[in-house]
Amino acid sequence: MSITTPSTTLPSTTLPSTTADRLFAEIHDGPTGWTGVEAGPEWAEEIRRLAAEKNATILAHNYQLPAIQDIAHHVGDSLALSRIAAEAQEETIVFCGVHFMAETAKILSPSKSVLIPDARAGCSLADSIDAAQLREWKAEHPDAVVVSYVNTTAEVKGLTDICCTSSNAVEVVQSIDPDREVLFLPDQFLGAHVRRQTGRTNMHIWAGECHVHAGINGDELTARAKAYPDAELYVHPECGCATSALYLAGEGFVPENKVKILSTGGMLDAARATGATQVLVATEVGMLHQLRRAAPQVDFRAVNDRASCPYMKMITPAALLRCLTEGADEVHVDADVAARARTSVERMIAIGSPGGGE
Ligand code: 13P
Ligand code: SF4
Repeated sequence: MSITTPSTTLPSTTLPSTTADRLFAEIHDGPTGWTGVEAGPEWAEEIRRLAAEKNATILAHNYQLPAIQDIAHHVGDSLALSRIAAEAQEETIVFCGVHFMAETAKILSPSKSVLIPDARAGCSLADSIDAAQLREWKAEHPDAVVVSYVNTTAEVKGLTDICCTSSNAVEVVQSIDPDREVLFLPDQFLGAHVRRQTGRTNMHIWAGECHVHAGINGDELTARAKAYPDAELYVHPECGCATSALYLAGEGFVPENKVKILSTGGMLDAARATGATQVLVATEVGMLHQLRRAAPQVDFRAVNDRASCPYMKMITPAALLRCLTEGADEVHVDADVAARARTSVERMIAIGSPGGGE
């Protein structure tokens, strides 16, 4: 992927002629990304005005800051947002998420302009395997089917047979001939979940992880579950504690029907249907915003309230304003790489039930 990042020199703050100029002049670059603008009513009005003027649709992942989720046209999980990007009618897609997500949108909608408010918003999980490593792994298993989580670079997707997200990973693996070996990458915890669900023994799993989800550990989950014995547990399959959650259920500490391993979209569906009054949530803390909106009567609590993704949080109100004003950062995917990656991504969006946000 290559991303166009414009000059960081913004217009002078002298004599702003309109509210828009004044807000724009306050944007500056800081150690954690673009900053200087609060998400107040003037900002919201300006974002809506610019989106309409530029014929742009704003998509936001469930881990985005609440203000970004609230201003977006669509909020959802990785699968839902990929499907929306593939069908978007607008000329421009502004992807408020991390750059593999914007890259996936560009692969699916190559004729559209795809923008990400800060191209520096990466992903530690996507960084855990590169194309050279995957080529080497494939050479060791030449007949295997390669299943890559969507949290990968376009180059890795180009070497992949089928992509998946956490909401359809089990169905994607179930769709493969049981006699074929599977290489599943890059998340070891999601891989372990898929292996448990499918019972598949001919599946090799890459040892990658997301530092945010891996950090939500089993001891923390156990302590929280014991402190709130009536709560349901929603656990994202990327979490290091997913196995502990199943252990708690298996040992009878928590009734089995109260432990749910779910994608972020799946958590929203479960929240809308739950009769529980309290739910412990093991995933990135941005998720709590949509959960509380979906089921305001439920007391949702983070298993680890420090589980905040620094990349997701780079999409600030200032970054979104700069993005819509300057048309930056634009995401480009090399045409050959995109052509190779498109089949695996199109297979992904064709498999599995709709995720939250659709
Ligand atoms: P989902 O929204 O597909 O559950 O993905 C979670 C995630 O970690 C994205 O980076
Ligand atoms: Fe990547 Fe983890 Fe952040 Fe998701 S939460 S974007 S997997 S680093």
